[in-house]
Amino acid sequence: MPAISSSAKGKTILFGEHAVVYGSPAIAVPIHSIQVKVIIQPSIDSPESIIWTKENNCKKSFKVNELADDNLFWGTIREFQNALNCSLPPFILTIASEIPIAAGLGSSASLSVAMIRVFAEFLGMKLSTDIINQIAYRSEVIQHGTPSGIDNSVIAYEIPIYFEKGKKLEFLQIKKKSHLVLADSGERALTKDVVQFVQESMQKNPTRYQKIFSQIGSIVRSAKNALEKGESELVGSLMTENHQQLQMLGVSSVQLDLLVNRATQSGAYGAKLCGGGQGGFIVAVCNLENQAAIAEKLQEISPHVIKTSIGED
Ligand code: MEV
Repeated sequence: MPAISSSAKGKTILFGEHAVVYGSPAIAVPIHSIQVKVIIQPSIDSPESIIWTKENNCKKSFKVNELADDNLFWGTIREFQNALNCSLPPFILTIASEIPIAAGLGSSASLSVAMIRVFAEFLGMKLSTDIINQIAYRSEVIQHGTPSGIDNSVIAYEIPIYFEKGKKLEFLQIKKKSHLVLADSGERALTKDVVQFVQESMQKNPTRYQKIFSQIGSIVRSAKNALEKGESELVGSLMTENHQQLQMLGVSSVQLDLLVNRATQSGAYGAKLCGGGQGGFIVAVCNLENQAAIAEKLQEISPHVIKTSIGED
């Protein structure tokens, strides 16, 4: 049997992270320029399944039967097998990811989706995107405890989404192209820890946090309209407003604020941290003419800058 490969993209949350865990809406888009690639082949010589990871020229191997219960690789394999009532024959899986870990760009959901896609093909199964999404969500639960489900959804469907927990997923029609620049703070924080931090802070002052979540909800609803109409300037100012709310939640950092300010001072319509925060990336919206200049300015203080776009031409 020849080797089979699959992949999944990264994502960024344009509006509404954290509040989405408590029932507010949020908007996320796929990032097509970064992905996780996986290659699977049957293990012929050994009855054991092995996973190889490649990161910065460093190769590591893991025996599947030695992985801990809460390990992302094993969690995804187990959820896949349980959901489909099947058993994977011994395999060798190679993973190469361009998505930085714990940086708010969906590395864990993307890895789960890529693994589910390749396992299905390995077994000759055709899975609907909805089933892939459901399995990836279960794997996210193992990783994050109480995920809203937005990361696995945008990564499984690979289109911009308006997401509200427990409601039917809405696909966003972004009619006009908007240009984005993402910049890395160089700091890392696990989503699970930051979500827990927000939860503990909320328990101490529920009224204050409910008010912030409801303000974020209003921003997201206005942003949906602005995005659909291609009003990039309004999208930008709503993003900066969303960043201020995230600062109030305590999930920004000095470096994230510095990047947001640098982006807006360099001509972006607006910017905010994206994902769990307390590290990771910021996302800025701008026009095509100044995208390169903004990226250059951000590069002066960021180790990794990504230029991308959303919407139709
Ligand atoms: C993480 O990408 C987004 C959060 O809102 C957590 C979640 O929605 O599960 C922080």
